[in-house]
Formats: sequence, C-alpha cells, structure tokens
Amino acid sequence: MTEIIPAILVKTKEELLEKISAVEQLVEWVHLDIADGIFVPNMTIGGFSEIETIETSLKFKVHLMVSKPENHVLRWLKTPADSFTFHIESTNQPISVIEKIREAEREVGLALNPQTPLSTIESLVNEVDFVHFMTVEPGFYGRQFLEEVLDKMSDFHYFYPDKPMVADGGVTPETASKLVQAGANTLIAGSYIFKDNNPAKALEELKAIIAS
Ligand code: DX5
Ligand code: ZN
Repeated sequence: MTEIIPAILVKTKEELLEKISAVEQLVEWVHLDIADGIFVPNMTIGGFSEIETIETSLKFKVHLMVSKPENHVLRWLKTPADSFTFHIESTNQPISVIEKIREAEREVGLALNPQTPLSTIESLVNEVDFVHFMTVEPGFYGRQFLEEVLDKMSDFHYFYPDKPMVADGGVTPETASKLVQAGANTLIAGSYIFKDNNPAKALEELKAIIAS
C-alpha cells in the first residue's frame, strides 16, 4: 500500500505550526524539508530547535537538502526525528553519514536529484532503508514534475524490487498513479496538500487515486 506524506517547507516557526495543525489530525508522519541556501537556492527554517520545542503528535522524516550533511547530522540526531534523508550529490562522505544515522538507530534514506544517475548510488543501496527520488528540482514547493524520472524509478525497481522507493515533488492526482506504477511506495506531496486550505480533501483525492 502506497503512503502519502505531506511535505512541510517553511521559512518561519509560525508557518511550521500552521502546517502542523493543518495535518496533525490526518496523518502520522510529515516530511520536513530543510534547505540551507547552498545545496539548493532557497533557505528554510534550521529545523532542529523548532522540532525540539513544539508539541505535536506528528512524527518527522527530515529531508536534508543541505551541503555536507556530515556537518549537520550529529546535531539532528539529538532531535526526536525518526528518519533522515540526505543527497548523494551533497557529500563525498556518504558512508560516514549513513553510519552515524544507523548508530543512532534512525531510518536513513539516500536521495537523488532528477538528473543524477543510478550508478552514483549503486554501492550504497544495500546500506540504506530507502531510496528517495526527486521528481522535481529540489528546493521549493510547486515546481514542475519531471516525467523523465519515471524511467529511472522503473529501472531501479527492476534491479531492486524489494528496496522501498520514495518519490518527492510534483505529486498530484495525475502524477500519483504514474509514480505508483514506477514502483514508489511513498509519495511526498507539498503544494497539492496545502494549496487551498483543505488538506483532508487533497489527501483523500490522492489516496483514492492510488487505491484505484
Ligand atoms: C522539494 C522538496 C519537496 C517539496 C514538495 O524541494 O524536497 O519535498 O516540498 O513540494 P511539491 O509537492 O509542491 O512539489
Ligand atoms: Zn522534500
């Protein structure tokens, strides 16, 4: 069964609280996007102190769109977040990042930008819990869905049928079924869920599509 997880990409704690209260009764997990202005041309909240100080029943999966995650991850591992994803393009020490996350007994995922080939992660696939496919250029809500990533996902699914696959970005009722067909187990949706103040309706629409 494919899971849909709302993406929270915010610049202030107020916006974070708004988005949390919009989905808190609807889902168990949220995807928290963290951008440093270096790895991607946008900057979000820092994230760690915010999630340590707010009270919520939600669980956090943190998407680190940051350069050199090895410099951030130990601080993140002090927070209650359960899952961390970092980008293969962002570091030349991927093994060390994976080991740190594993030692702290958290889930670890490896992300690839739309143009990044599968060959870059081949030696690491067995070391991570899931592979995270960017289906938009990373950094912002509402970017264009890139159809060409579907082929990369299908190829990956052929070679690694049991490895969980996450698709992140541009998820709508139109793209959701294609992503499921390409092998995605989890769909991360931002603007579609938050766009018109009715996240419950948007989630139901997406769920109906993937169930059909
Ligand atoms: C993109 C982020 C995504 C984003 C998804 O940089 O990693 O998680 O928030 O937003 P939408 O669904 O609007 O593409
Ligand atoms: Zn994300």
